[in-house]
Amino acid sequence: MERRKVDDTSLVKLMMCFLLSSLMLMGAVSSSVSDKEQQLIRRNLLANGLGLTPPMGWNSWNHFYCNINEKVIKETADALVSTGLSKLGYTYVNIDDCWAEIARDTKGYLVPKNSTFPSGIKALADYVHSKGLKLGIYSDAGYFTCSKTMPGSLGHEEQDARTFASWGIDYLKYDNCFNGGSRPTVRYPVMSRALMKAGRPIFFSLCEWGDLHPALWGFKLGNSWRTTNDIADTWDSMMSRADMNEVYAEHARPGGWNDPDMLEVGNGGMTTDEYIVHFSIWAISKAPLLLGCDVRNMTKETMEIVANKEVIAINQDPLGVQAKKVRSEGDQEIWAGPLSGYRFALLLVNRGPRKYTTTAYWDDIGIPPKSIVEARDLWEHKTLKTRFTGNITATMGSHTCKLYVLKSVS
Ligand SMILES: *[C@@H]1O[C@H](CO)[C@@H](O)[C@H](O)[C@H]1NC(C)=O
Ligand SMILES: *[C@@H]1O[C@H](CO)[C@@H](O)[C@H](O)[C@H]1NC(C)=O
Ligand SMILES: *[C@@H]1O[C@H](CO)[C@@H](O)[C@H](O)[C@H]1NC(C)=O
Repeated sequence: MERRKVDDTSLVKLMMCFLLSSLMLMGAVSSSVSDKEQQLIRRNLLANGLGLTPPMGWNSWNHFYCNINEKVIKETADALVSTGLSKLGYTYVNIDDCWAEIARDTKGYLVPKNSTFPSGIKALADYVHSKGLKLGIYSDAGYFTCSKTMPGSLGHEEQDARTFASWGIDYLKYDNCFNGGSRPTVRYPVMSRALMKAGRPIFFSLCEWGDLHPALWGFKLGNSWRTTNDIADTWDSMMSRADMNEVYAEHARPGGWNDPDMLEVGNGGMTTDEYIVHFSIWAISKAPLLLGCDVRNMTKETMEIVANKEVIAINQDPLGVQAKKVRSEGDQEIWAGPLSGYRFALLLVNRGPRKYTTTAYWDDIGIPPKSIVEARDLWEHKTLKTRFTGNITATMGSHTCKLYVLKSVS
């Protein structure tokens, strides 16, 4: 007894110590954010009603980088319609960096780059809207955008938000380069408020790279927040973005999503199997499904991945709960999350170099122990004949996955 008491006292001391250092840390944070700014962050600045399910569409960066012009954007819009992808939900056509002249005009307005967007952005928005699609644009919470070929919006937030609204913009990706060193929790709320003031519902995508854990404060400011640095078109880059993003699963919900960056499916740096893993993880993670390939020139394999209706339906499920990595054993991982209608999404991933057999247990997934379960394999497009009790097992080759929807039948 006596000994136990001593232990309790030291535990209390430890907790006091932790509490004290947390308080000191909070003090340090609040001293660099003014009271007014704190109030702004505490209130929900962005009530635009958008992003009830993760956004879907396309963005120019992963394939084209700065090599964009109005022809590419229009042809991509055309291709989203002609391929049928727009009907599946891919409706945002998002222009990334490099669309404007390096200098603002004499009145301080952003100017679309004459050599590449001679018709202007308003004309492009009209065109995209005429196809039943939406137009997205890009700016930066700093003095220049990341390419340094055009101005950022820092200090011009209200003017730029009004400009975007007047052009008919539907989505703003807001980057974090050349920011002068001030905190994102100071810079991003200014744009959230400016967008609200401009009066047009514009999906606000915070591209803060995960530096200051935007999952913890992003919901009040935006509809999605990047949790990671930029993705590259490799297996290691893609899987590491997935891991970093997974940590924040609890913070995703309708209206605000974790963003592990745009899709690389179809850009050629991974195998078809790896792209299937990529698309599966993004879908169950409720990540934005923004295609990053050349939609005008997709292979049959690429199309089959990104047009998988059942996988898209997991991403767009109204429950809006991000799946988590519920268990891993070495290179074998089990990801799972609930869906509407008392169903579950289950993803088994083999990250290793060899074929492997993995079992997921109901206990891992949160399914009641005695449940008899029907499994639908979303990449094979079939409901398995076997009914499962207590577990489900799959054998997977290197860098492949199995994606199931599980439903109790008794
Ligand atoms: C845009 O470029 C065209 C030629 O490419 C030129 O004729 C026109 O004057 C330019 N407009 C502006 C506003 O610079
Ligand atoms: C279309 O894609 C293929 C590879 O899938 C590539 O070799 C070809 O250059 C592309 N065509 C254009 C016009 O980009
Ligand atoms: C999975 O469940 C079945 C039936 O309930 C059982 O026979 C089997 O041993 C289980 N498999 C594993 C690997 O635990």
